[in-house]
Formats: sequence, structure tokens, C-alpha cells
Amino acid sequence: MSVTEQPPPPADSPGPTDAAREALHDRIAADSLTTRRDYLRIVATVSGGLAVGGLGVAAGILHRHGDSDGPLEPKKIADSLAPGESLAFRYPEQEDRAVAVRLEDGTLAGYSAVCTHLACAVLWRKDRGSEGELYCPCHEGVFDARTGEVTAGPPPRPLPKVILVEETDGSVWAIGTTRSGESLQDGLCRQLAGTRSALAEQLGCPVAPPGGAGERKERT
Ligand code: FES
Repeated sequence: MSVTEQPPPPADSPGPTDAAREALHDRIAADSLTTRRDYLRIVATVSGGLAVGGLGVAAGILHRHGDSDGPLEPKKIADSLAPGESLAFRYPEQEDRAVAVRLEDGTLAGYSAVCTHLACAVLWRKDRGSEGELYCPCHEGVFDARTGEVTAGPPPRPLPKVILVEETDGSVWAIGTTRSGESLQDGLCRQLAGTRSALAEQLGCPVAPPGGAGERKERT
């Protein structure tokens, strides 16, 4: 029998039955309040989880390609990469999604595969554009395969690059990263500066003035 079907108590005796009914009502009210709170918490957690990647990237909280200032370990990513082919890989760390593409004219290009809009995965689409595109399916973001520049959609910045080199045996290596909008040369020089200055000089990187930029001049 439900609470509403219970016979009414005697008019002169409001005691135990009313008290029990009141207690049950309170418990149901409390339970439904808890349930609503839990539901709201779950919704907030799920929505927050979906958004947090993008917000983290936007706010600079999460690690991004090009964040490293020191030299990165070279990593072999393929024995070879033929024209028109692409390869998903991780660099410099296991959590850093990246993509390498070989355009039909032989150009080799590497990029972060994390969209600069809300951090969805960027995919290589050979069938799009005149020579293929880097495409983010979340909000139709499109990046130029040759430069990483945004060509369509909401991404606010170009894709950071992964610096790739090809050895004489055809193997492809990742050797560094750039920040969004930074040139390959500037990214490489930044990562070599201070630790591999001889190599940086060979590559034509600007030489730090004697004493370094951080040296403090004494007032006389
Ligand atoms: Fe890539 Fe929005 S997350 S376009």
C-alpha cells in the first residue's frame, strides 16, 4: 500500500502515523534532492570533461607541442613514407599526438594532431582540397597541409609543427617541435640554444652575445 492509500489516522490521534508519514515524506524529499544534486554533478562532470581539454589548451595549462625549450630526443617514426601517405605518431611524449604527411611532390611535413580550437584530433584527408588537407571533424576546422595555417573553420591558430628529417636510407625522424606560428628554424634554434650551441651555430641560429642575455650590467 502506498503512502497515499493509507487510511487517515483518527482525528484525535495525530501521533505515530502522521509522524511516520512525515518522516517518509522527508526521506523521499531528501532522496530526490540528493538524486537531483548527483545528476547535476554528473552532468557538470561530463560536460566539464568534454570541455576541459580545449580550455586547458586554450589557457596554456596542458602541455602543447612546442612547449619544450630544451633539445628533444630524435625519434624514428617510419622506415619510409611514400607520396600521398600519412602516419599518425606520438612525439615528443607518448601523450603528444602528431601526424606526418608526404605530399605528392615529395614534401615532408609534420604537425601536432591536436586541434588549436578545442583539442579534437586532426586527421589527414587525402581526398580533400587539391593536395589533401588536415581536417578536424569536430567543428569543420581545416589546416593547410603544406604550412599548418588555418584555411577554414574556428581554429584560432595554425597547427604547431613537428620537425621531420629524412635520412639517406629513407627513414623519417622527428627531431623537434615548434610553437604555433613559429618557423621550423626558430623552433629548432630555440630548442638547441644554450645546450647545443655548436650545432645551433652550424644550423645558422643567431649566436647569443657574450655574457648571455641574462647577464646583469653593473652600474658604475
Ligand atoms: Fe577542431 Fe573545433 S576542435 S574545429
